[in-house]
Amino acid sequence: MKEVSALAGNPKLRPHTSWSQAPSTAAFPTGRVDVWRVRLDEPATAGAQGSVLSPDEIARASRFHFEKDRIHFTQCRSALRAILAGYLAIPAAEIRFEYLTNGKPRLRAEQNPHVLQFNVSHSANMAVIAVGSEHRLGVDIEKIRSDVDTASLAERFFSLRERAGLQALPDRLRVPGFFACWTRKEAFLKATGDGLSFPLADFSVTTHPDLDPELEEINGNTEAGKLWFLADLSVVDGFRATVALDRCHSRLETYSWN
Ligand SMILES: CC(C)(COP(=O)(O)OP(=O)(O)OC[C@H]1O[C@@H](n2cnc3c(N)ncnc32)[C@H](O)[C@@H]1OP(=O)(O)O)[C@@H](O)C(=O)NCCC(=O)NCCS
Repeated sequence: MKEVSALAGNPKLRPHTSWSQAPSTAAFPTGRVDVWRVRLDEPATAGAQGSVLSPDEIARASRFHFEKDRIHFTQCRSALRAILAGYLAIPAAEIRFEYLTNGKPRLRAEQNPHVLQFNVSHSANMAVIAVGSEHRLGVDIEKIRSDVDTASLAERFFSLRERAGLQALPDRLRVPGFFACWTRKEAFLKATGDGLSFPLADFSVTTHPDLDPELEEINGNTEAGKLWFLADLSVVDGFRATVALDRCHSRLETYSWN
C-alpha cells in the first residue's frame, strides 16, 4: 500500500516515488517523515473548506487578487490542518499556528507535546506537505517553466560550484537541472528555517536532475552537508520537488491527500 524507504545505512529514495492512499489513521511519525501530495484544484473540495481556517487565515485568503490563488491557499491550509489534525487527534479548526521571525509556521507548543514538525510548499495547483517529529525538515515544489533564463538566474541564486555543475550538463538537462538545483536548495533552506537570510552562495547541492541529490558543502565544509539527506520526489509531470531531512530521520513515506 505504501512506499517505505530506509534512509539509514543506504539512504536512497527511488526517483519515481509512488504515492499511496492516505491511511485511515495516521500513526505519529516517530523517526519517520510522511510527505503528502495535495492537489489544490480538486473540484470536489475547492473552496468548500474555508470553515476550518482561523480568522487570520481567512483574512489572508481574502487579500489574494486572483480567485485561483485564494482557492489554492485555502485548499493548502485546509489540507495542512486536516493532515496535522490526524496526527495530533484534535479537530482541524482548533489547530493554532505561530510564526517564527522568518515566517516559518509551527504548531503552538501547548498543542504539540511530542514536537510534530511540518513544512509546506506549493506551486501552481500542487502542494507538498512534509510531516515528521523532533528533527528539522523542509520541502519545496516548483512547476517547471522552460522559458526561464537559467544562466542568469543561476548567476544570481546559485553557488559557483552549482553554476559549474549546471554548465557541465548537456543542453537537454539544463532546465530540469536548474529546477532540481532550485528545489534542493530551497528544501534545505526551509528545513533550517533561515529562508533567504542564509546566503544562497554559501552552500551547494548537486545539479544533475537524474542522479540522487546531495548537499555537497556548507561554507566549504563537506562534512556538514552529510548531516542532511535530500530526496527528490516525483510528484506529477511538469514539477520538481525535493524534501530535505535531518539525518536523524530513518524512513520516508509518501501519500496522496486527494
Ligand atoms: C518564503 C520561502 C521560505 C519559500 O518561499 P517559496 O519557495 O516562494 O514558497 P513555498 O511554497 O515553497 O513555501 C511557502 C510556505 O513555506 C512556509 N514558510 C514560510 N516561511 C518559511 C521559512 N522561513 N522557512 C520554512 N518554511 C517557510 C509557509 O508554510 C509557506 O506557505 P504559506 O505561507 O502558504 O503557508 C523563502 O525561501 C523564499 O522567499 N524563497 C524565494 C525564492 C527564492 O528566491 N529562492 C532562491 C533560489 S534557491
